[in-house]
Amino acid sequence: MVDDGIVLNALRKVYPLRSGEVMALDGIDLRVQRGAVHGIVGESGAGKSTLIRCVTGLERPTSGSVWVDGEEISAAGERDLRRARRRIGMVFQHVHLFDARTAADNVGYPLRIAKVPAARRRERVAELLELVGLQGRGDSYPAQLSGGQRQRVGIARALAADPSVLLCDEPTSALDAATTRQILRLIRDVRDRIGLTVLIITHEMSVVREVCDSVTLLDRGRVAEHGPLAEVAGRPGTRLARELIPLPPLPAGGAGAGVEVAFAGADTASVFRTIGGLGDGVEVAAGTVETLGGTQAGRLRLDVPADRRDEVLRALRDAGLHAEGGEAR
Ligand SMILES: Nc1ncnc2c1ncn2[C@@H]1O[C@H](COP(=O)(O)OP(=O)(O)OP(=O)(O)O)[C@@H](O)[C@H]1O
Ligand SMILES: [Mg+2]
Repeated sequence: MVDDGIVLNALRKVYPLRSGEVMALDGIDLRVQRGAVHGIVGESGAGKSTLIRCVTGLERPTSGSVWVDGEEISAAGERDLRRARRRIGMVFQHVHLFDARTAADNVGYPLRIAKVPAARRRERVAELLELVGLQGRGDSYPAQLSGGQRQRVGIARALAADPSVLLCDEPTSALDAATTRQILRLIRDVRDRIGLTVLIITHEMSVVREVCDSVTLLDRGRVAEHGPLAEVAGRPGTRLARELIPLPPLPAGGAGAGVEVAFAGADTASVFRTIGGLGDGVEVAAGTVETLGGTQAGRLRLDVPADRRDEVLRALRDAGLHAEGGEAR
């Protein structure tokens, strides 16, 4: 196996309990290409943190394997694991900084541990602070920085040892919306500039929408849905499509059948032309259009006269759109 990036094969993790056991991960197959930003979503207890701990080697799988840049983490001995971990940066919800050290010293800490000479360390710290947009703030102490700035220090520190993989467990859950957007933009920017592979655990669909190229929905330790963003968003009726492209509340009192149209990677204007050409009595009752992974994706709910439902569904599908429907309402 020589794949760059992250590869999980039939990964299982069972935790023994005093009575019985918990199947935290139940046969996960996942491939995150080098340079991709991949989101992991799922309800509380779905196995997200367990998955990340298996990727860092903090947790040994019960069976199956974990590979990072072609090295089998799940089979590595302690020494190889310590070396492999240098290629893995971690970012958490609550960044733990040394309060008595400046931002620069916090960022440089992993380099000190790695015995990088002081002059080289200063140079690298300056580069890192600039990379995360904190040039000139190296002398500040954590208490003198905002939450978003502290998270930037955490990201710079995670990048200090030149990792090829960045694992983020709820990196923005403690931040407000505007700061979240800045941090996500930073993660994407860093990925673009140094070609990192990024795995982000999050419970916020807005994070997935904003930063991820592809996404996995975990459900009780299994992969329930998976794929590139535009593709999963284009599968109507699935949980990810519904959550990535939420429909606004429907106006009350539509008469006919409800037909749901979903599209991804299509030209939105042509979708509306198709709908406009459906003729009598077809109305858009609600709709959302988003730009996901650089392409447009949307969901529309149409009100269609009940006796035209089958014909309308056929016309939409002939035009290459996903369409399904529709109970009368
Ligand atoms: N050390 C452990 N010992 C026993 N059971 C564990 C252990 N760690 C996790 N579990 C169980 O494994 C399952 C998955 O837990 P995990 O922490 O991976 O979920 P999660 O998706 O990260 O949830 P959350 O969103 O709440 O953080 C849960 O049922 C949890 O109780
Ligand atoms: Mg967790």
